[in-house]
Amino acid sequence: MLITFEGPEGSGKTTQAHLLAEYLQRQGEQVVLTREPGGTPIGDLVRDILHDPLHKDMQAWTEVMLYSASRAQLVAQVIRPALAAGKQVICDRYYDSTLAYQGYGRGLDLAALVSITQLATGGLAPDLTLCLDIAAERGLQRRLLGGGEWNRMDQEALAFHRRVRAGYLELAGLEPARWIVVDADRSAGEVQEMVRRLVAGRMQG
Ligand code: TYD
Repeated sequence: MLITFEGPEGSGKTTQAHLLAEYLQRQGEQVVLTREPGGTPIGDLVRDILHDPLHKDMQAWTEVMLYSASRAQLVAQVIRPALAAGKQVICDRYYDSTLAYQGYGRGLDLAALVSITQLATGGLAPDLTLCLDIAAERGLQRRLLGGGEWNRMDQEALAFHRRVRAGYLELAGLEPARWIVVDADRSAGEVQEMVRRLVAGRMQG
């Protein structure tokens, strides 16, 4: 299965993805945990360009192309080979991030973004997408308190992050068979318990 984690800033995706990977490994699964942008040597270089807060003049479509370039490399080099070898793949963000941030957040044409995404992924869709949902201001607050990386996207206005969150909820509503929205405004332990239950249910089904 390809399981992706999505959600606004500070929703705890990275923590949850790691905890789920450890859990599935303990269950005897072979797991590949990866992330976007990055996850390959080429993708990590692209990530540095994307996240540098000094790159304030980056154009919206440049941003799309760079996220997509990182994604194309990750799908070909990591995700497809792992799935072919029968492994479970967990990805911290995938193409829905482009639809939410560049589409709903920046207002770029969704149909064009879907086309570019198809090219980058060869049409590889997740089997399950867990959307960790949290109000934009709560997520940003967590992010600030957490003291982690503060990247070029984090410094966008609150209104942008609100559009991203609303975008995720809309995307989830459009494809309810693939998406599950999880309330992420709870402790990491509680969220993980829910995530495990949902993933186990999906794997058995
Ligand atoms: P990252 O440091 O991985 O943070 P997070 O914990 O929020 O995932 O940063 C990824 C940032 O890139 C995040 O702000 C969302 C943004 N992003 C896009 O705007 N479009 C995309 O297609 C992807 C994959 C990420």
